[in-house]
Amino acid sequence: MPRIAVLISGFGSNLQAIIDAVAEGRLPGVAIAVVVSNRRDAYGLERARRAGIPTEYHPLKPYRDTGRTRQEYDADLAALLKRYNVEWVVLAGWMHVLSNAFLQHFPNRVINLHPALPGMFPGTGAIRRAFEAYQRGEIDHTGVMVHLVPDEAVDAGPVILQETVPIYPDDTLETLEERIHQVEHRLLVEAIRKTVLEHSQSQEEG
Ligand code: GAR
Repeated sequence: MPRIAVLISGFGSNLQAIIDAVAEGRLPGVAIAVVVSNRRDAYGLERARRAGIPTEYHPLKPYRDTGRTRQEYDADLAALLKRYNVEWVVLAGWMHVLSNAFLQHFPNRVINLHPALPGMFPGTGAIRRAFEAYQRGEIDHTGVMVHLVPDEAVDAGPVILQETVPIYPDDTLETLEERIHQVEHRLLVEAIRKTVLEHSQSQEEG
């Protein structure tokens, strides 16, 4: 049974989409082993607790305050997930860039969600930046992608699924955000099915 960790930093609506998909049998066999947040007050932690999923809080500040490196933070995060026998890692709004100190422990096993199309608006504030680019007449659509994280590049890597999201003249930032989140919730679950489940099925057949 594939065990996944979901890493979050905030609201956790995408985590909720995974929790719901597991509960409704749309990700058969997938178990959410642990939810990790780098922020103690992330509402997603509450969502996990309500669903009976173990939670961990892994803050960066104590590392900074004591002169420990980002690599040490990342290596400890990997060790934490290993204790839960995690095989796959889903970044659902995780706002730290992961270094190789983490990635080497999960080669081709880290999945990232980003609210923009490949190569567009990497980093934070992607939806707002797309909306501003639309207002300047530079783009007429944006999108969502789910991709593997092979290295330290920000919001880049082999695409599992992507989908275009239109922007309309009467959109506000809020209506665009809402439309993008709807797509994210569906695409992330579908991408987990495509990678995690198909991988475990092909291993069983082999
Ligand atoms: C989502 O829109 C996700 O794509 C984005 O954070 C949001 C988390 O929302 N991630 C990034 O921007 C990664 N660069 P949620 O906490 O409600 O799931």
